[in-house]
Amino acid sequence: MKIHVANHPLITHKLTVLRDENTKSPTFRQLVEEIVTLLAYEATRDVKTIPVTVKTPVANAEGLALAKPRPVVVPILRAGLGMLEGMVKLIPTAEVGFLGMVRDEKTLQASTYANRLPEDLQGRQCYVLDPMLATGGTLIAAMQYLFDRGATEVTAITILSAPEGIKAVEEAFEGKGYNINLVTGSLDTKLNEKGYIVPGLGDAGDRLYGVV
Ligand code: URA
Repeated sequence: MKIHVANHPLITHKLTVLRDENTKSPTFRQLVEEIVTLLAYEATRDVKTIPVTVKTPVANAEGLALAKPRPVVVPILRAGLGMLEGMVKLIPTAEVGFLGMVRDEKTLQASTYANRLPEDLQGRQCYVLDPMLATGGTLIAAMQYLFDRGATEVTAITILSAPEGIKAVEEAFEGKGYNINLVTGSLDTKLNEKGYIVPGLGDAGDRLYGVV
């Protein structure tokens, strides 16, 4: 797995406000959107393009256009939904699929409760959005779902990641020949006994949308 940890003062500044327990949902949502747009810039570095020529008022200019089929952006419900706007701001023509996954807070196992994705993902670049890479259970299940539908190239964008989660994802897909990338805002220290990232930011879904 290719890992990119953002190292930019603007992202760190925004992350610091995000982590603060006094930051309320409206600010939290706004910051998540902004951070994802910045992370998306790095995550799409290898997005597939084709050469095109356009005519400027002065001369022809060689450029690039996004190749077809378009990339697929997959926010993992519920918390990944808070990342969608920030991502499609950068690639507005991407298709958006949805995966609803829930983590059992006792076993920390992830299971799928909803999905809306193309049946065939062969040749599609997939961008999975999930703010917290904690145990890795949710991300592994989501990636497996995409690989089972033919995807071979998946980039996960997370706000925070724990070393345990990264290790789990690497072990799950080791030697399987998939092209897996991770772009994250921060590599945090560890998980606590409840599976929360330390220092983290708490429950991302609750902080985005409240406790429901
Ligand atoms: N999910 C969250 O929302 N927060 C964590 O710290 C870990 C998993």
